[in-house]
Amino acid sequence: MRIGVLTGGGDVPGLNAAIRAVARRAFQYGWEVVGIRNGWQGMVEGIYEPLTPKSVSGILHVGGTILGTSRTNPLKDPKMMEKVFANFKAMQLDGLVAIGGDDTLSVAAALAAKGLPAVGVPKTMDNDVAETDYCIGFDTATTTVADALDKLHTTATAHHRVIVVEVMGRDAGWVAVVGGLAGGADFIAVPESPTNMDAICAHLKNRRDAGKNFAIVVVAEGAKITDLPEPEDLGEVDAFGHVRLDKRSLGERVAKEIERRIGFEARTVVLGHLQRGGSPSVFDRVLATRLGVFAVDLIREGRFGYMAALKGNKIVPVELEHAVASNKKVDLELYELAKVFF
Ligand code: F6P
Repeated sequence: MRIGVLTGGGDVPGLNAAIRAVARRAFQYGWEVVGIRNGWQGMVEGIYEPLTPKSVSGILHVGGTILGTSRTNPLKDPKMMEKVFANFKAMQLDGLVAIGGDDTLSVAAALAAKGLPAVGVPKTMDNDVAETDYCIGFDTATTTVADALDKLHTTATAHHRVIVVEVMGRDAGWVAVVGGLAGGADFIAVPESPTNMDAICAHLKNRRDAGKNFAIVVVAEGAKITDLPEPEDLGEVDAFGHVRLDKRSLGERVAKEIERRIGFEARTVVLGHLQRGGSPSVFDRVLATRLGVFAVDLIREGRFGYMAALKGNKIVPVELEHAVASNKKVDLELYELAKVFF
């Protein structure tokens, strides 16, 4: 047997742990493993390299991905899909492990539906892949957010300011809610639950009147703030049709509006790609390892078109088709819990 492994979409800490797990399980079965370069781009262009015990050694704790990544979408063009099939054959593969978020996994689901023996592993710091409780990268990202909020609290307190912290989260507010809850945010805005500047400012004013002369406001980059005009042009979309949400400058606009409306001095911090950097947390290392090993076992059992998923404390198979059918929205009960501390 010879299998391929690729990582697609935004990188996260824990990808290397997953690649290592895939390779080590396959080696245990006496299989060969090839690493496909740069996500689906490597399958379209036939760029790959053999993985060896040596090449996957020492990478468990290292962020990024030794295979590289891209946002290439073969579903955009039937010719690209044909190339994926042709290269799969040319590489003499018997199975493919696609490690990625909803975009990468939607390609794997489509390929599996057309007969390519693919399985999936969920990774995204957004944590919004359906049918799994956690995705690789989310725990590390939220730990980074909580660390940042701890640091920002001291300077916000010292200067009696509002600090608006913009975090990633395109369609789902998982990072904002979990990171904000862990870091003691005084307000959190998410895509799933529209809010407005009236509500934010009223809350901050009440807080100030009650004697708290600083505040930490966490906004997900995709949060909906209904009375704040949107920038006209966010530029080009990527291959999966997504605009770059950092160009919304939501944090900056919220901070300015707070100053304008209630005269509370405000600053903005955009955590950006820091949330995708560093070493994976213990949780992400263990999750990535469990999912990677399970994905290889799915191939061994001939269960293609499945994704390895975490449900409760168990790793289980779920159909890729179901996993990519919708985005997993933030748990609103958790959001309500965070509001207890606003
Ligand atoms: O898809 C994960 C994600 O981290 C989103 O939260 C964010 O909008 C996007 O990637 C940023 O991607 P890029 O790497 O293209 O800046």
